[in-house]
Amino acid sequence: MASSPRKILVTSALPYANGPIHIGHLVEYIQTDIWVRFQKLRGHECYYVCADDAHGTPIMLRAQKEGITPEELIARFHTEHQADFADFAIRFDNYYSTHSPENQHFSNLIYKGLNEGGHIERRTIRQFYDPVKEMFLPDRFIHGECPHCGAKDQYGDSCEECSKTYNPTELKNPVSAVSGATPIEKESEHWFVNLSNFDTMLQKWTSSGALQPGVLHKLNEWFETGLQAWDISRDAPYFGFEIPDQPNKYFYVWLDAPIGYMASFKNLCEREQLDFEQFWGKDNQTELYHFIGKDIIYFHCLFWPAMLTAGGFRKPTAVFVHGFLKVDGHKMSKTRGTFINARTYLNHLNPEYLRYYFAAKLGNGVEDVDLNMDDFFHRVNADLVGKFVNIASRCVKFITNHFNGQLAPALADAALYQQFIDEGNTIAEAYENRDYKKAVRDIMALADRANQYIDKHKPWVMVKQKGNEDQLQAVCSQGLNLFQVLMGYLAPILPWLVNQVEAFLAAPVAWQPEPLLAHTINPFKPLMKRVEKKQIDAMIEASKDSLATPQPAASIESIAEPIGYDEFSQIDLRIARIVKAEQVEGAQKLLRLTLDVGEEQPRNVFAGIKDAYTPEQLTNRLTVMVANLAPRQMRFGVSEGMVLAAGPGKNEIFLLSPDEGAQPGMRVK
Ligand code: 2FM
Ligand code: ZN
Repeated sequence: MASSPRKILVTSALPYANGPIHIGHLVEYIQTDIWVRFQKLRGHECYYVCADDAHGTPIMLRAQKEGITPEELIARFHTEHQADFADFAIRFDNYYSTHSPENQHFSNLIYKGLNEGGHIERRTIRQFYDPVKEMFLPDRFIHGECPHCGAKDQYGDSCEECSKTYNPTELKNPVSAVSGATPIEKESEHWFVNLSNFDTMLQKWTSSGALQPGVLHKLNEWFETGLQAWDISRDAPYFGFEIPDQPNKYFYVWLDAPIGYMASFKNLCEREQLDFEQFWGKDNQTELYHFIGKDIIYFHCLFWPAMLTAGGFRKPTAVFVHGFLKVDGHKMSKTRGTFINARTYLNHLNPEYLRYYFAAKLGNGVEDVDLNMDDFFHRVNADLVGKFVNIASRCVKFITNHFNGQLAPALADAALYQQFIDEGNTIAEAYENRDYKKAVRDIMALADRANQYIDKHKPWVMVKQKGNEDQLQAVCSQGLNLFQVLMGYLAPILPWLVNQVEAFLAAPVAWQPEPLLAHTINPFKPLMKRVEKKQIDAMIEASKDSLATPQPAASIESIAEPIGYDEFSQIDLRIARIVKAEQVEGAQKLLRLTLDVGEEQPRNVFAGIKDAYTPEQLTNRLTVMVANLAPRQMRFGVSEGMVLAAGPGKNEIFLLSPDEGAQPGMRVK
């Protein structure tokens, strides 16, 4: 145990108040909750706050669509989100909303600091405006044709086909997704924060050890290209906070979102008489950590420290960034039934399975986490139920049936018990560093040793031998004491199992408890059931049912005009082997494929399939390509053909594959 208790404030990113919590979100909340529980278990004063991110155009528009006020919409999701979190044992000290008086107060205060510090400038910008809805349109509410490759139905900021970025006003045939009208260009005055004013402070802070190496690398790239001014205002109509003394101008949702961390904590301080200044004041002796996903690094590692500095507040001690969730190696997909809502999971499976599985997979890097359903099934059953819980079930029945629940007066193998205690420091270090997979590995190695101890002494044989009663009691008591130590180590991950174990051991579970000697335990109820395949299948099915948005007929591409056989035969389709698949630096959607088509030289082809496949999944796979497509110069190099795939795009892309036996270079006819 560290000598004096630390004072720690921890946050997770605030979920938007217009959609349900899903298992992708849960990676972060479970990761944070485990860390917070670990700190509390070790005796530190630690607070975990969060809130719904309640502002912005999408929330306003969704409320309009449902015929309710934004306040009603966010109240509904607030209740729903809190229930989901509670049912996954995610224990916030406060769960608030960014649409709160505290948040408005701090937003105004920080804005004032930015303004008085000379960091705000006004600029007139031209933007798309929906003449029917009478509102300016955010980029994602404008659709049109890509100005570079002509791909249809692209968002206003970047093309999913050729991955180029552009201004919405460059789109061809733009359409407002809100009303279907053709948007017009209109000028308006916006408020910008001159982020480059904070360049020196930010470079110093980011390299002070507050960030993971991968994150720092990304930030250094941004520093090199120069920090851009940040547009913090939006025009009415908008759901948010009006900028003081600027009628019809609102703070952009991303300005008040991180301030929501403060506001939620302030609300907790009022309720529990805590000292707000101690955690947010410049002269603090406390620690502040933000857990976030890798998509919002810019906001938390550049904008946020700048805002805090301008407002006269402290900066975070560290920002902990994690990767995205994949399911079976793919992005979550509604078609595959792997876009699983928290509630759908809960309807089928025990939340502690997922807490354990995520812990077993989470390191402290920014790599994506893969929820592999087979692996989930095996790990939960083999490790959690078969290995860990089994230690207790193997010992307890003898104690209950033959010794009236009474444990032995001394440890049978004190040295082994001490070894379990000695491992505690290493396990604690892994938790502290957010290397949960190492902690789980170390704990499961100890569980193996506990099981080996039981195997060696064979209580099920002893029970049949007369005169061995004391030894039987000692061996089973030793097993239960080892189990109790391991439960303490797993407590941050499995808090509900802790409650059950405390009930049957009739003793509290703690980090490194005193051994239970000559102590009476309660009758045992099975602690945890094995997962069944059919439960997983049912959850996947339910996710397909509840979420697969039926494609409106209009969006299914209609069959093209007929062509003659001659025209068809001009397209030279070939079997190709993907010899290599690589990420393309700077491309959002593209992978670079090296294709063997039976020619001397392999072909280089860029394919917009990054959302649906990892390079590993593609390597060595056969597919079909258009081999006589004229080479095309793209931003990242020349593409010498095209691979064939079906699907609406994003992560729903299905690469064509021939049956086994096809050879690279064979013509497809
Ligand atoms: O990306 C998101 O889902 C945002 N709602 C996260 C906000 S985190 C914080 F800054 F408020
Ligand atoms: Zn394009």
